[in-house]
Amino acid sequence: MPIFVHDSRQFHLQGRNVSYVIRLLDNGQLEQTYFGKKVADRSDFSGLAPLPAEPLGNANFPLKDSSFSLEWTRQEYPSFGTSDFREPALQLTESIGSRLSHFTFSAYDIVKGKPSLAGLPAVYAEAEDECETLNITLEDDILNARLILSYTVFHDRDVILRHVELTNTGKESFSINRLMSASIDLPHSDFERIQLDGAWIRERHLNRAKLQPGLHVIDSKKGVSSSWHNPFLALCSPDTSENEGEAIGLNLIYSGNFRASVEVDTYDTTRLMIGLNPFDFSWTLGSGESFQTPEAVLVYSASGLNGISQSFHSLYQDRLIRGAWKTKERPVLLNNWEATYFDFDEKKLVSLADSASDLGIELFVLDDGWFEGRNNDKTSLGDWTADLKKLPEGLGSLADKVREKKVSFGIWVEPEMISEKSRLYETHPEWVLRAPHRPHTPGRHQMVLDLTKQDVQDYIIEEICKVLEESNASYVKWDMNRTLTEVYSDSLPADRQGEVLHRYTLGLYRVLDAITSRFPDVLFESCASGGNRFDPGMLYYMPQTWTSDNTDAVERLKIQYGTSLVYPVSSMGAHVSAVPNHQTGRVTPLDFRFHVAMFGAFGYELDPEKMNPADRQAVAKQIERFKSERGLLQFGTFYRLLSPFESNDTAWMTVSKDQSEAIVAFYRVLAKPNSSMKRIRLAGLHPESEYEVEWQEGSRIHTRTYFGDELMNIGWQVPPFYNGTVKTAHTHFYGDFQSAVWKFREVKKG
Ligand code: DGJ
Repeated sequence: MPIFVHDSRQFHLQGRNVSYVIRLLDNGQLEQTYFGKKVADRSDFSGLAPLPAEPLGNANFPLKDSSFSLEWTRQEYPSFGTSDFREPALQLTESIGSRLSHFTFSAYDIVKGKPSLAGLPAVYAEAEDECETLNITLEDDILNARLILSYTVFHDRDVILRHVELTNTGKESFSINRLMSASIDLPHSDFERIQLDGAWIRERHLNRAKLQPGLHVIDSKKGVSSSWHNPFLALCSPDTSENEGEAIGLNLIYSGNFRASVEVDTYDTTRLMIGLNPFDFSWTLGSGESFQTPEAVLVYSASGLNGISQSFHSLYQDRLIRGAWKTKERPVLLNNWEATYFDFDEKKLVSLADSASDLGIELFVLDDGWFEGRNNDKTSLGDWTADLKKLPEGLGSLADKVREKKVSFGIWVEPEMISEKSRLYETHPEWVLRAPHRPHTPGRHQMVLDLTKQDVQDYIIEEICKVLEESNASYVKWDMNRTLTEVYSDSLPADRQGEVLHRYTLGLYRVLDAITSRFPDVLFESCASGGNRFDPGMLYYMPQTWTSDNTDAVERLKIQYGTSLVYPVSSMGAHVSAVPNHQTGRVTPLDFRFHVAMFGAFGYELDPEKMNPADRQAVAKQIERFKSERGLLQFGTFYRLLSPFESNDTAWMTVSKDQSEAIVAFYRVLAKPNSSMKRIRLAGLHPESEYEVEWQEGSRIHTRTYFGDELMNIGWQVPPFYNGTVKTAHTHFYGDFQSAVWKFREVKKG
């Protein structure tokens, strides 16, 4: 039983290695008593967070008891306006204009399993006995509102899931200005924060810094979760490394505007919070109506950053991603985007599919440019029928011809968008999201459809289903190439315009739910100019995301390393592309590109017909090798070992669940003259098992065995680098952009 309750006042949620304790205070609010490494249950936790015996400073004392003030109380779901001056988790406006609220405890209940969230993506339970959900009900009798704080804890995970539901129980409407999904007060500020920042083609770079007094915020105001900041924030001890030390991770299952903050107050308490971005948001709650927030995922680890990552990875792989592809190895694909851009016809596509098939590729993906008049990015979005100039016999016929080459067929769509030059715009100019009395800001020459409208949602569902039916595609790349501006919808009255962005996201989720449920066997990959919407909300509907439009292997080291902090390898689209690379102009060896992309939902994004015979042969070998290790690469337990953000060297590895196999990869970006020997301490192996490894030094192949503890405590020594004097047949690492991938096989079980 993972939830203990004492005297209806103290709640202890206990996961595999984690405890979360909440206590009811005398003023009826809830105290955040403890979150961290698992502790034994006890009937009274009040001694854990004692309040000061003497009043602190010139605080306000709402209970007329000078020993109690919210100002220094660690709260579970703080509000503003009485005596707490930190960031509140909620703020509502009553009809008289007051923004005060005071929710106090009224009841609780515990249910087995985990109820779903209406219209929102969320973690699910597969069996009722794998987790329990605690609902704590609070009421504000003046406002006439009910607030339910929900917590789910899994027996065998280090995860707490939180969301909030607010109901208007009175007769008068009020509006929600802010309703965060989770807030947690931690007893000190000796933390470093980690966030994933970036931009287009530079997504999810790891950013770690010491906490400072005051408020630190990351957010999105772009209508998508965005590449500027992922909806993720972690705190860790200053000495936490990849495999050691404490860390807390917080992620939001949401694809629109979010806000995450960390605040260090004057008493060195740290408040960590995540939820919908209150900026440009308001929601009118009429009598009897309820509002549910997106779900927040709170993860704890005492075994370093890899600990939080592995908790996220296994939760998302097992209990967020759904459908036929959840645990299925992903097909090796060829995408024609960087091979042809818009310049192709049926003959070229079929010939690409043919070459792909010869190389062992399993899926051919037709990217942008296949529909009516789409010869550049200025036209046609919204008109989802084939361009007969390029595909004279239509999409279905092309797809059949591709399948005749023994590869399956996948298709690109960008359903949320509309081009000014399109039949759809001629028919429905009113479907565009914009303020009609103001000029519209174009983005990639396109506009966004107003997904708050049900007829727009229905149009998308119908048109995209037709494309899938006609082509019988087994894969869909769902793209989204601009952010949202001029956010205004004529479907809502003036005083409800603050609802547009959230309603857009809810509309998108309805569309995704309808289409993915109609085609349960199709593999969907989400994309937003690469990784502009790489978030768990999208993963709920689509098991993989195109990680970045940047296919340069050196850049990908950072992008994939950062992404892996939260998201599993199986969810990261990763392709080998041609050189010079289209985003950076860099030339890297084919092997280096393969060694990076193989840790992902793997494929190629180049024209095989333009490769020389030696490279084609090498690619065929890569694919053969990839297929033989695919399960381990995509679904093994992933460990980051050396960070590209800290040095010229990167290393990571994946270990099978039974610890009998591991694949280790090492990358050196720039050659280093007269370099020292490099030792990498491996992780996740069975300390007493004996592992065999084969490695290459130039043309020479070596084999040796090591025990797991040796590899983890002493380390695996990378074969020697070029020593700067004589390049022999045995020189393995020579020049820039060097890499190696080693397989460790258990030969004796420990
Ligand atoms: C952006 C995507 O990220 C690319 O891979 C490609 O699909 C283009 N859009 C097509 O317009």
